[in-house]
Amino acid sequence: MELALGNVSKIYGETIAVDQVSLETNPETGVLVLIGPSGGGKSTLLRLIGGLEAPSSGEIHHAGNPLPKEEDALRSFRKQNGFLFQNFNLFPHLTALENLVMPLTKVHGMEKSAADEVSRSVLDRFGLAEHAEKMPVQLSGGQQQRVGLARAMAHKPGLLLLDEPTSALDPEMKAEVLDVIDELRREGQKIILTTHEMGFARKVGDETAYLSRGRIIGRGIGNELFTNPPDPEIEQFLAKVMKW
Ligand SMILES: Nc1ncnc2c1ncn2[C@@H]1O[C@H](COP(=O)(O)OP(=O)(O)OP(=O)(O)O)[C@@H](O)[C@H]1O
Ligand SMILES: [Mg+2]
Repeated sequence: MELALGNVSKIYGETIAVDQVSLETNPETGVLVLIGPSGGGKSTLLRLIGGLEAPSSGEIHHAGNPLPKEEDALRSFRKQNGFLFQNFNLFPHLTALENLVMPLTKVHGMEKSAADEVSRSVLDRFGLAEHAEKMPVQLSGGQQQRVGLARAMAHKPGLLLLDEPTSALDPEMKAEVLDVIDELRREGQKIILTTHEMGFARKVGDETAYLSRGRIIGRGIGNELFTNPPDPEIEQFLAKVMKW
């Protein structure tokens, strides 16, 4: 992917959530993983990259183009991307199928019948065909998360942004969701994700950036960051979280 951040900051009141972050991804990178301690700024940076929020200062470029500042252009940029956020999941009053169909028709202007067909085929791919008519409460956490992923990628997003896609899932459900993400990666879907699962980060990331106190302290291509941590703080963090 071609993503470039130049001195990007995001300030909420007194809190500097993202502090002068500069980053240029390797063009070969298909999956960028953001790791680091809680409160380090991962989710905020993901929202900025996806155009869900505007930076307080600095520039973000996708494929050489600056992220639009004007609201209409920003909205159409956002529409090209797919999002899955831990706490903003499915519409509770819609079935799994309707959760996919609704944004395709309302946001992407697809005909109902075409949206239905696409949605069923995506659900089928994710092993969810038999759950299409269920309401979210009738699905397990892992199934809900997979429906969320299916919805995030049903319109073939340019960028898929996943904020801790597996937190709060039990190990078996985690494995299911991780498999789906790995498959999307192999198909060439460009993904930026945050995770506390270091094993997964290591496996799926073509590039990893470590964020702490709003700053990128280190980054690495492939496994570099894990095998040869560029900073003592990263080494300590990894030693702590990989111990178990
Ligand atoms: N909307 C907001 N208003 C005020 N402060 C915010 C807002 N969003 C984030 N913050 C603050 O910005 C900092 C970075 O938060 P962020 O959610 O980006 O961290 P994170 O790395 O994703 O943490 P975690 O691993 O716990 O998800 C935190 O201090 C947080 O309290
Ligand atoms: Mg977060």
